[in-house]
Amino acid sequence: MFPNAEEIQACLNTVSIGKKMVVMESVGSTNDFIKRKIKAGEPAGLCVLAHRQTHGRGRMGRSWISEPAVGLYFSIYLKPELSLEHLPRLTLMTSVAMARAIDPFCPTPCRLKWPNDLLINGKKICGILSEYCAPPDPEGVILGIGINVNQDAERFPAEFRDTATSLKAETGATVDRSALFIAILQQLDREYQTFLYEGECKLAQEWERHSDMLGREITLNQSGTQFQGVARGLDKMGNLMLETPEGQLISFDAGEVTLRT
Ligand code: BTN
Repeated sequence: MFPNAEEIQACLNTVSIGKKMVVMESVGSTNDFIKRKIKAGEPAGLCVLAHRQTHGRGRMGRSWISEPAVGLYFSIYLKPELSLEHLPRLTLMTSVAMARAIDPFCPTPCRLKWPNDLLINGKKICGILSEYCAPPDPEGVILGIGINVNQDAERFPAEFRDTATSLKAETGATVDRSALFIAILQQLDREYQTFLYEGECKLAQEWERHSDMLGREITLNQSGTQFQGVARGLDKMGNLMLETPEGQLISFDAGEVTLRT
C-alpha cells in the first residue's frame, strides 16, 4: 500500500521540497494540475504525485504513458530567485539528483542524456519535463518527473520496447515505489539547496560525471535541423557543446539528441 501524503512527509527531512504534498489516485497531468494551482495563487513548494495520469505529457508535445501504480509520476513547483537564462541549470540539477537517487535501486548506474533523460543500459528509465510559468501568472518552474519503476518490459508498447526500460525490467524485482519516491525527494532537496546557495559550484562537471555522452558521435535535432558531431561537454549554463566534423564548437540550449556510437 502506497503511503498517503502525511506519511511520506513524516519520512522526509527536507528544507523546501515536499513541505506541501498531494497524493492522488488519478489526474490528467501532474504538471497541468500544478499549473492550475499556481494560477489560483498556490505558493511555491507544492509536490503532487499521481498513481495514474490520463494525459501525461512528455517533451516536444509527446505523451507520457502513465499506467496505474507501476511508475512514479510527480511534479514539483519551485520558485528560485534566478534569471530566466539560469533555469536550464535547474533541469541539470534535477537530472543529477535523480541519477543519485535511482542508482542505489539498480546495480547498473543511470546515465544522463542531454538535456533531460536518464538511461539504464542505453534505454530510457526517466524523463523530466521542466516548464516555466511566466507573468501574468505567478512566476516559477514546474519540474515534472516520470520514472518507469515496475512496468513489465513486455507491456511497453511495441514502439518503445527497444528504447524504454523500467527498474523492474533491469533488476528482475519489484521496487518499493514509496521508498524510491522518498529517496528522490531527499536527494532533490539536497541538490536544490546546494544549487541555490553554492552558486555555480560543480553542476556541469557533476552532470558530465553521470553521463556517457561525452566523446560520442551524436545527431542533434533542433527545430527540424539536424546537426552531427561529437558531444564535447556542457558549459556553465548547461548548454551542450557539439564539435562538428570541421572542428567547430557549437553550443545548443535545446534539442533532441540521438546517440550514434
Ligand atoms: C520526457 O521525457 O519527455 C519528459 C516526461 C515527463 C513525464 C512526467 S510524469 C509527471 C509529469 N506530468 C506530466 O504530464 N509529465 C511529467
